[in-house]
Amino acid sequence: MEFKSKIKTIEWVDNYSKMVDQTVIPYEYKFVNIKTGEDMFHAIKDMIVRGAPAIGIAGAHGVTLFAQEGENKFTNVEEFKSWLIEKAEYMKTSRPTAVNLMWACQKQIDLIKNSNSNIQGIIKELIQNSIKLENEDIEINRKIGDYGAEVVPKGATILTHCNAGALATVGYGTALGVVRSAYAKDNTIQVFADETRPRQQGARITTFELAMDGIPVTLITDGMCSYFMSKGMIDMVVVGADRIAANGDTANKIGTYTVAIAAKYHNIPFYIAAPLSTIDTSIKSGKEIPIEERSRDEVTHINGKRICAEGVNIINPGFDVTPHELIAGIITEKGILRPDYVKSIADAFVKDKID
Ligand code: MRU
Repeated sequence: MEFKSKIKTIEWVDNYSKMVDQTVIPYEYKFVNIKTGEDMFHAIKDMIVRGAPAIGIAGAHGVTLFAQEGENKFTNVEEFKSWLIEKAEYMKTSRPTAVNLMWACQKQIDLIKNSNSNIQGIIKELIQNSIKLENEDIEINRKIGDYGAEVVPKGATILTHCNAGALATVGYGTALGVVRSAYAKDNTIQVFADETRPRQQGARITTFELAMDGIPVTLITDGMCSYFMSKGMIDMVVVGADRIAANGDTANKIGTYTVAIAAKYHNIPFYIAAPLSTIDTSIKSGKEIPIEERSRDEVTHINGKRICAEGVNIINPGFDVTPHELIAGIITEKGILRPDYVKSIADAFVKDKID
């Protein structure tokens, strides 16, 4: 049985980008239309759209929006191209950690460079490429889900951190794609979702989308995971990724590393679920992954209300890096990569399927 997810997070419509506004979930489920490149830059930066694969698609849409604006500014195609490539490089800087953003903007840059069309033709090609990337994202997630479902034990309780679901992708999800495919085969599985301070993607978004699809979910606070592991209540961990280095070290939402350490101590398999576009083979290890530092207000305030004394020191890294030694497998669209990751990651880029 194929699992039908109701969510489409981001899509190109006529001449603009339509996306779910993730800043208001779970109070509201509404869509916003982004119509300029600059608005897209801010939609990514301010996390109206978030999650590595989703911001990749948003970046591709953003380049397309800039291209549409350029149509009125240029008559010379070479001048249009170099202006647009600069805009695409700018779009890449809207958030620093998730490499899917740079990957998708680069896909548009390559298209611009290689196109022999006039300005209108290039815009048309960028739109077609945006839609192609959207469709591929859903396909890839389904494959990740199906490979991942093979390692989910019967009746398992799966712990996840942050939101690597339909709302972090175009649809279906990576870590939650594994959950959806596993649930289609065995409806006795369930999810434990970490709250995920400070922006509460687990509480706000993961529980919301699983409830929407009727998949059983229990919300816990971030500090509770080892307690439930020690009670034998967690069978496996599956999380998403923002950037994976060539040796398998993986950046994901802050707090993921703590979960991975706890899982190792309790002998619970810890999996990453991510498309190959999240793997950055240009960097050897996680030490080279840039970690986003976000606003202090995210820590000092909840729903606009201060929760600590004035003047307290705050540091707010958005991501941490889980060392590859703690990772049982990386679930990709080509199969599950296992240690030695230097070899299995390199193989994944040249083989059609990993056995
Ligand atoms: O800051 P966010 O909400 O964009 O962070 C999202 C995550 O860390 C996800 O786990 C990751 O992007 C994978 S999404 C499939």
